[in-house]
Amino acid sequence: MRTTLPKRTLFFTIALLSVSFCFSQPIPSTKEENDLPKDYLPASFHAGRRDALRQIMPANSVMVVFAYPTRTFSNDVEYLYHANPDMYYFSGYKEPHSLLLIFKDQQTDAAGHTFSELLFLQKRNAQQEQWTGKRLGTEGAKNSLGLAMSFNGESFKKFAIDFSRFDKVIFDRFPADIPRTRGRDSSDLVDLIQQFKQKASIPEDYSKEKRFDTRLYRQLTGMLRELKTPEEMTLIRKAVEISCQGQNEVMKSVRPDMSELEIQGLHEYVHKKYGAEEVGYGSIVGSGENGCVLHYMENAKTKIGNSLLLMDVGAEYHGYTADVTRTVPADGKFSSEEKIIYQLVYDAQEAAFKLLREGTRWRDAGDAARNVIADGLFKLGIIKDKTDVGKYYPHGLSHHIGLDVHDRGVSDTLKKDMVITIEPGIYIPEGSDCDKKWWSIAVRIEDDALITKNGYELLSHFAPRKIEEIEKMIAQKSALDDFKLPPLKSAEKKAF
Ligand code: GLY
Ligand code: MN
Ligand code: MN
Repeated sequence: MRTTLPKRTLFFTIALLSVSFCFSQPIPSTKEENDLPKDYLPASFHAGRRDALRQIMPANSVMVVFAYPTRTFSNDVEYLYHANPDMYYFSGYKEPHSLLLIFKDQQTDAAGHTFSELLFLQKRNAQQEQWTGKRLGTEGAKNSLGLAMSFNGESFKKFAIDFSRFDKVIFDRFPADIPRTRGRDSSDLVDLIQQFKQKASIPEDYSKEKRFDTRLYRQLTGMLRELKTPEEMTLIRKAVEISCQGQNEVMKSVRPDMSELEIQGLHEYVHKKYGAEEVGYGSIVGSGENGCVLHYMENAKTKIGNSLLLMDVGAEYHGYTADVTRTVPADGKFSSEEKIIYQLVYDAQEAAFKLLREGTRWRDAGDAARNVIADGLFKLGIIKDKTDVGKYYPHGLSHHIGLDVHDRGVSDTLKKDMVITIEPGIYIPEGSDCDKKWWSIAVRIEDDALITKNGYELLSHFAPRKIEEIEKMIAQKSALDDFKLPPLKSAEKKAF
């Protein structure tokens, strides 16, 4: 499909957009900026990722990356905004209502300026910034992110770009339910997407047109993101170590009279103490039966009691998340049934570890762990047939981690520089078709491993996995043991 412009015509009109082509001097640091973390990803990382993308993009193509939508928490309150990992990866830009274009080939505008990417971003707005914080703006994008071709989002509407001259226009599936949070402002994400659809003549059912390739978007970003760079590894190592410290501190301070929420709070306090801004997913803290809910996030039980406590909690550090699970006895000692199930999960994890190296098929590592669990449950009489293993181990072994907790990847086999989880589990809910003594036992052990040419590095080795080491850790004193708060006065009155 083509518009009236001939193929070789210069197709950009940006003269009106007051473009600056030199990188300005960095804005002098303020006192507050001196107090910020010093280990954010540098602009050179994002530029390197764009270059790597260009290497694998097909001839004469453009990739379009949209910001994630903002989301309503309640009434006029929004959830804390989380950047689209692809936008962050390729630009470093972390604000909503923005759009990034990455070109395979260098482009030239009507005035003869050359460029390979364009960022349309949130306009600076003193009034808004007083409420929601400082925006980077075009100057900031040029100075901090090295994106010389940055424009306010409202410019996109008038931006003359002939998408029909590209053989491939690569973008992700559009989210179906984007809230319009900023009124009918022409740089709202809803408008940016609409304007893109119009400019590129994208039909309602674009999945049928080969030029508009959402599959290729996932493929290319997956090819890059499944292999971690040294800069990314620095942040992932930190996220994983912080998560392990959270696990260790909780092991040292856990008592049966604590609540699930309190345990969650302790993990997340430790994360923040070490500078992790977020958790990479809702923290899962389930004691006893609650551990059987794979993604249990209510964390509502007021006393964890003497049962096993499953804690799947991952710190997110500068965008990169860990994913670490430890299952521990709240009263300090595994019961004999708990020990048997725990050891089975441990052995399954070890069987998978043995296969980790470049070239192993994901499926083979998964099968190795599953077979250990199937054999073990069969011998214990918990299942009558090994093919029933899925009843008590209903999930896969492994996934990538990175900017997403379930990070993108495309390869069937493991490759050097992948970072993956190894997370077998056994969950036996109350009422299961086996001896009652096994009921409400839930164990998951989840570790994060960097794949190397001949093996792997266990990034989450900081938190113990062996039964006796966990019991030893629980017996240790914690700084939090002496942290006492007065009882709430309002708790003395019964609500009903
Ligand atoms: N924390 C989610 C998972 O383990 O996949
Ligand atoms: Mn996981
Ligand atoms: Mn997990």
